[in-house]
Amino acid sequence: MTAINPVADYAVEGEVAVVTINSPPVNALSQAVREGLKLGVEKAEADPAVKATVIHCAGRTFIAGADITEFGKPHAAPFLPDVLDRIENAKKPVVAALHGTALGGGFEVALTAHYRIAVPSAKCGLPEIKLGLIPGAGGTQRLPRLVGPEKALDVILSGAPFGAREAHQWGVVDALAEEGKLREDALAYAARLIADKAPLTKVRDRDEKLAPARGKPEIFEAARKANARRYRGFEAWEKAIESVRNAVELPFDEGVKKEREMFMALLGSTQSKAQRHVFFAERAAAKIADIGPDIATKPIRSVGVIGAGTMGGGIAMNFLNAGIPVTIVETAKEALDRGVAIIRRNYETTAKKGRMTMAEVEARMARLTPTLDFAALAEPDLVIEAVYENMDLKKQIFGKLDGIARPGAILATNTSYLDVDAIAAQTKRPEDVLGMHFFSPANVMRLLEIVRGEKTSKSVLATVAALAPRIGKVGVTVGVCYGFVGNRMLAERQREAGKLILEGATPSQVDKVLTDFGLPMGPFAMSDLAGLDIGWSAETSKRATIREILCEEGRRGQKTGAGFYDYDAERNAKASPHVEAIIRAFAAEKGIAQREISDQEILERLVYPMINEGAKILEEGKAQRASDIDVVWIMGYGWPVYRGGPMFYADTVGLKTVLDRLKAYQAQFGDDFRPAALLEKLAAEGGSFSKA
Ligand code: 3HC
Repeated sequence: MTAINPVADYAVEGEVAVVTINSPPVNALSQAVREGLKLGVEKAEADPAVKATVIHCAGRTFIAGADITEFGKPHAAPFLPDVLDRIENAKKPVVAALHGTALGGGFEVALTAHYRIAVPSAKCGLPEIKLGLIPGAGGTQRLPRLVGPEKALDVILSGAPFGAREAHQWGVVDALAEEGKLREDALAYAARLIADKAPLTKVRDRDEKLAPARGKPEIFEAARKANARRYRGFEAWEKAIESVRNAVELPFDEGVKKEREMFMALLGSTQSKAQRHVFFAERAAAKIADIGPDIATKPIRSVGVIGAGTMGGGIAMNFLNAGIPVTIVETAKEALDRGVAIIRRNYETTAKKGRMTMAEVEARMARLTPTLDFAALAEPDLVIEAVYENMDLKKQIFGKLDGIARPGAILATNTSYLDVDAIAAQTKRPEDVLGMHFFSPANVMRLLEIVRGEKTSKSVLATVAALAPRIGKVGVTVGVCYGFVGNRMLAERQREAGKLILEGATPSQVDKVLTDFGLPMGPFAMSDLAGLDIGWSAETSKRATIREILCEEGRRGQKTGAGFYDYDAERNAKASPHVEAIIRAFAAEKGIAQREISDQEILERLVYPMINEGAKILEEGKAQRASDIDVVWIMGYGWPVYRGGPMFYADTVGLKTVLDRLKAYQAQFGDDFRPAALLEKLAAEGGSFSKA
């Protein structure tokens, strides 16, 4: 074996050359990998003893794509399209041997090889859409030639990987290797190709799957229709459709040229930068500054959940899904039965949609032990309290739990606002206590705020951080403060939304500004969905706020058919002239002058105070990094991923602009807009949150 360069080796076995790429962790197509591929294929070509070449990767995967860390930086030769040309135009057959995840540029490398062999566990895919891109090295041109434009559109627009067996059925992969024997099987396959004098088949020359689609614009119209809702606000997806259409309508070289132009334009777009930022932000969130691999984690074999309400039930489902048994505790039989029935109904609904079998429903339900006996919490390794938001109740529960849970068990509270340290202080083991703040619906939303208490031990924190991905969550470690990261920032937005409607904006105008921005719903639609009567009581209500007035009128949100909006039987919202009149009268009574408010002002007043609060959170060390705040908002509140999260968005607007606008609003409306010191500092330095 000889080294081609630091990440590529060359070996000859019989008449076959093996070019092995070894660039951990995922063999991404860095300059060195591109060079290794090119030099490897050239070496094989020049070697008279060699009659075929296998491209193979060391480590956990075949090439998993372009090197995303190189995007946006000056690129050094050889460039990927040139490397692919070199492979495709080789005079001796090239076989790509796939294992792990052959994604993006990696899959595109495989598509230029003359033949592909894969182990059954391998996955292929073009996930570029998830980074705000389209495949940029022939993927939109070659894949349709193998599988037809409809299937190619499915793959490219979903970004989802498909397995090697499927790839084999579709004709994308020519042969399946035995699991664990890829290198040997690829060598044997190449030897057979040599013996058979197999032709140098080039995907680019194939037309049989394209010809039937020519002159059928309805194929692309259907893809546009099917994806319009899902990709509202995104730029890349229409380009992907256009590019696949080019594959059908244009000669290969022209299609590839246009694909590259679109790819390069998207690469420079703010949307793709934002989506790449989120890719790395999600992975950075898992890293906790003072917790290295030396910190031992505890085994979590079973979980206890206190409270079978909406949150408790949703939380339990996460663990049941992951194969972890759950004991769920309630105080009254009726509440327990209702909670368990809802969990079952949720699973059955999933089964009806064909996304789970009834056997799986039963298997998950069998892992659930409902009980009214608090003493059953002596068993689990982790107990999560999910009762309603009341400090006295939570303190009481933790006091009691302290006497029951086994030594070393982790005790977590799902509080969304309250002081985790005060809760921990009710136990004689505050080092075992932390917050696990799930977001509603807890079995769906991917965010988990992991609230690190003053005394939480490193091992407890490391255990919960490692548990998050096991239950399909992205864990973000945050510090103790009112509302933690997400709800603390949300409170800023809610406050301004409430002020804006008194000053003359309507609830639907405010909501529309946010949905146009890309959020799934605005503050008033959200309040109606949650119920306006959360925390409201008829006894203490004094018509002192708009919410109190609406609740007193029986307008308690969607569930009552009316709230800030009127709802029809299908729960479609319509602006309510009655509510608008209530708001006008209330403002007049309070002496608040109403005026026309521009959409721009609404957006700035809703979002900039959130960014400002985010800066304060960073100053106080309640979040480790600005990108963690972005992850919280994207995973927990539906912030549009193509805007990269509130802190990344601030960077794209420019921190000086954000600061200037906050100062202008401060002069007009007072200290709700007082800029954070960190924002002042970064703006003065010409800095950004991403680089801070
Ligand atoms: N470039 C650079 N770094 C990458 C990378 C890439 N394409 N893919 C993964 N990494 C890094 C991650 O940042 C992470 O780094 P860290 O350990 O420092 O945090 C490390 O590799 C391991 O990644 P994961 O933690 O995600 O490991 P998993 O095993 O869970 O997942 C994976 C592996 C499925 C390959 C996943 O990382 C992934 O989906 N990667 C992105 C794949 C992708 O989008 N490829 C297309 C790129 S665009 C392209 O190819 C354009 C082309 O058309 C021209």
